[in-house]
Amino acid sequence: MSDDLLPVEPAPAKPNLPGSVVIRPSADDLIDAIASELLLHATSCVRKFGDFHLALSGGSTPLPLYRRLMYDPVYRQLPWKRTHLWIVDERRVPFEDERSNFREIEDLIVHQADIPREQVHPMHATEPDADVRYERELARVLFFREPGHDRLDYVLLGMGSDGHTASLFPRSPALLADLASMAAQNGAAPSLRDLQKAAGDRRLVRLNEGPNVTPPDRVTMTLPMLNAARFVAVMVTGAKKKDMIAKVASGTASAADLPILGVKPKAGELRWYLDHEACPA
Ligand code: 6PG
Repeated sequence: MSDDLLPVEPAPAKPNLPGSVVIRPSADDLIDAIASELLLHATSCVRKFGDFHLALSGGSTPLPLYRRLMYDPVYRQLPWKRTHLWIVDERRVPFEDERSNFREIEDLIVHQADIPREQVHPMHATEPDADVRYERELARVLFFREPGHDRLDYVLLGMGSDGHTASLFPRSPALLADLASMAAQNGAAPSLRDLQKAAGDRRLVRLNEGPNVTPPDRVTMTLPMLNAARFVAVMVTGAKKKDMIAKVASGTASAADLPILGVKPKAGELRWYLDHEACPA
């Protein structure tokens, strides 16, 4: 039988998710969609600001993307020399521990790209004040940019099958603190300086621990930090996430129960990237 006669699988309908939605048949096609747009964001930020601030997540979903960024000659053009690499969240384990997000990102990207070491920003997650240190590091580096541009340019998030994102788990202390501060803050500008000033409390990074946190304990960027970003990509693949995508799209849950619903960039763009398997029927 020639290829023309093979039955064509109908494309799934676009789920009604907040932000825009990109759907591709396979995880591999999806990686192309993400990587090509990432390259555009990176080159345009370098042109505008002289550098590009990228925050990456752990988890298993993005690992093939990280590999592709390194071996595909098209995506190797990403301007790593001008890129600052940040970590969205981290498990409170040493770097050598196989659960460390940075360990994976270091192996797959830092060791393979020509990114200057001083532009790589791991979270020192086992330090007692890991949150304060990372917040200070973000401010130290990003505050070189003028107010309003002092934010991450591109954040890559995943989503767990319980609806968590970053290390913000349903009903966990860091998530509830973020939601309370967002309710109080109401409409503040997405500048990190403003976020810090608005609070008197730390707003960019938090520790997260307790019974509602999947062990080990975590350090995580906060929702206000993520929502200040210029562009937030949520990458979701595989049939295991399909039910959660349907739940998020149903619009009936709260962000306290489905943390991913707290991701609402204030002056940036939110884009979901799904493969067919992750799309509800
Ligand atoms: C982490 C992540 C987390 C992840 C989701 C999805 O450190 O685990 O940052 O938020 O993105 O748990 O994980 P999977 O990609 O493994 O399904």
